[in-house]
Amino acid sequence: MRAGITGTGSFVPEKVLTNHDIEKMVDTSDEWIIERTGIRERRIAEDGINTSDLAVEAAKRALDRACLRARDIDLIIVATVTGDMPLPSTACFVQKKLKAKKAAAFDINAACSGFTFGLSVANAYIKSCMAKRVLLIGAETLSRITDWEDRSTCVLLGDGAGAVVVEPSDNDSGIWSVDIFTDGSIWNLLNVPAGGSAFPASEETVKNRMHFLKMKGNETFKIAVRTLEKAVVDTLKKNRISASDVSLLVPHQANLRIIQATAKRLNMNMDKVVVNVDRYGNTSAASIPIALDEACRQGRIRKGDFILLESFGGGLTWSSALIKW
Ligand code: UT7
Repeated sequence: MRAGITGTGSFVPEKVLTNHDIEKMVDTSDEWIIERTGIRERRIAEDGINTSDLAVEAAKRALDRACLRARDIDLIIVATVTGDMPLPSTACFVQKKLKAKKAAAFDINAACSGFTFGLSVANAYIKSCMAKRVLLIGAETLSRITDWEDRSTCVLLGDGAGAVVVEPSDNDSGIWSVDIFTDGSIWNLLNVPAGGSAFPASEETVKNRMHFLKMKGNETFKIAVRTLEKAVVDTLKKNRISASDVSLLVPHQANLRIIQATAKRLNMNMDKVVVNVDRYGNTSAASIPIALDEACRQGRIRKGDFILLESFGGGLTWSSALIKW
């Protein structure tokens, strides 16, 4: 038995922050941001809107499309690095707001790879019959951990949420493989240093801006290109299909140049690649499910299509998954 995605949904806040807006905040330019990243604008959640609020809106849409009610769900997984609070998990707030009384709920943190790591968990729960209906959500309010004085990161990040419902599938459609990888030895390339047990919040951590995301962008970029190329090629080999059999590549949206490098390695034309980094920037765990949902809404995914997902992020973590729709 395979697990398959039976509904997708996404939600982004209304407020748009353009590159020109950021030009007024730090020493940068629209041209630099577009040339190096492909990003033109990103969405920012208004004060008082939390990660769980974005998650709930995306989840409601995914449930509608799967023709399910919240009370049908056994398990809620929220992938996020910007939960509402350190405790309880954001999934608990989502469970409460959806009134999904039957569902157990927990968060996972695999940074930008959170959605695909969560997909591997959902897949395992369904295949082992430990759950029948899993709601998997990637949701982030990265604007809350963005250092708006650091031009090397603030141009990259945005807020949003995407969700999928995962259920048993009755034929050869569904998740064919989901492979996840980690190299904790290079955690220092991408992190938020303070707020945990290493550096609990203090006057000092706030003064030193240690609650904001830090990234060594160029080093991360090079590792991302190398590892993703290998991961997607291995996935195709393992499933004995070729890149030309893949109808759509749905990559994590960190940087258009990383996306293009993976597509090039697979010899895939960019019209078979979902790109929305120009409109939302990097939304971490939310980026793949938002892109997947938009592709569904645009009629770019048909039954029987092979869809390839890939992600890369803090940890470092990366992944590749193949789904037959
Ligand atoms: O999603 C999780 C994983 N994240 C990623 O995979 C992101 C990976 N990294 C990247 O996307 C890219 O490395 C960045 C977009 C972050 C940076 O692009 P880059 O081509 O690697 O630039 P760089 O960091 O090597 O910086 C080149 C120059 C530097 O100036 P100098 O030292 O050459 O004079 C930077 O100071 O660009 C400068 N720079 C900027 N200039 C204008 C850095 N940020 C900016 C900026 N505006 N916002």
